[in-house]
Amino acid sequence: MKSSKTNDHPLRKSLIDWYDAEKRDLPWRRTKDPWLILLSEVILQQTQVSRGVEYWEKISDRFPNPRALAKVDQEELLTLWQGAGYYARARRLHALAVQVSKPAIEGGFDGTIPGSIEQLLELPGIGAYTAAAVGSIAFDLHIGVVDGNVRRVASRQTGNSNPTHDLVSIWANSMLIPGRPGDSNQAMMDLGAVICKPKTPKCELCPISDSCEGKENPLAYPAATKRKKSIENLDAAVLLDPSGRPRLSRRDSSERFGGMWGPPMSDIATDSLTLVGEVVHHLTHRELRVKVWSGQCSKGTDPSTVPISNLDRKILKIAGVM
Ligand code: ADE
Repeated sequence: MKSSKTNDHPLRKSLIDWYDAEKRDLPWRRTKDPWLILLSEVILQQTQVSRGVEYWEKISDRFPNPRALAKVDQEELLTLWQGAGYYARARRLHALAVQVSKPAIEGGFDGTIPGSIEQLLELPGIGAYTAAAVGSIAFDLHIGVVDGNVRRVASRQTGNSNPTHDLVSIWANSMLIPGRPGDSNQAMMDLGAVICKPKTPKCELCPISDSCEGKENPLAYPAATKRKKSIENLDAAVLLDPSGRPRLSRRDSSERFGGMWGPPMSDIATDSLTLVGEVVHHLTHRELRVKVWSGQCSKGTDPSTVPISNLDRKILKIAGVM
């Protein structure tokens, strides 16, 4: 028997029993190393688990601890991050590695990840969700995570179509098994991802359907809060040198895709250029429509030598590069 307290609470016992039997076999679940767990959570902030595994494997291989990352240029991480999107995550992760690698007398953590929620929240790129995930999974802190999955499960379980963040947090905390907070949180994440899915919930397989207030009409929970995506029209100039290499420059860290390389996208005089196509690219809250123009320049860059975002790859492809 794991814990008598567990058994006092049939709902959370059902959830953890289900997790023990059905949990997804994910590589970061085989380690207790806080750096490797933090890395997984930063990747999973905006990348699906199925795609995240590949990124986690190559980044954790190359940077097995914060110091390994702190001592290289940010661009090396961006190169490994190519294709995963939301590159600000990578820039902040690099800043985090630099910060924790400093000696304690300089405000760092001597190359380790600190183990309290307050300290985690001070680090670049770490918000409430990631602090709770790392705190519970790596350091066994008794704190429930709140993300979109957990909110959906809480909304259906409690029959509240629009629960506040605080309500979801209280509910998530009530579902933690004493002594196993990290597994409890990951059980909730797996339940949300695999069973209590947004559009196709599999209530017949749910370990906690008995207590679910929303199971008669799960799609009503939580209520949709659809924000219409705003559209942004842009121009990109793909200027090719005589050997067919495009002019590329490193985007400033204050810009979108900061730190990544790409063709000019601002202040473009299109009069002497030829329109070759349009690329549509979806970000979380925005749709980018980029007109792709082609022209000439004296000297370009070999695109295989610099980190390039997916959007820029699409742009270069339309212009016949890559
Ligand atoms: N999503 C974010 N973190 C996760 C984790 N540790 N396991 C599964 N899905 C997740």
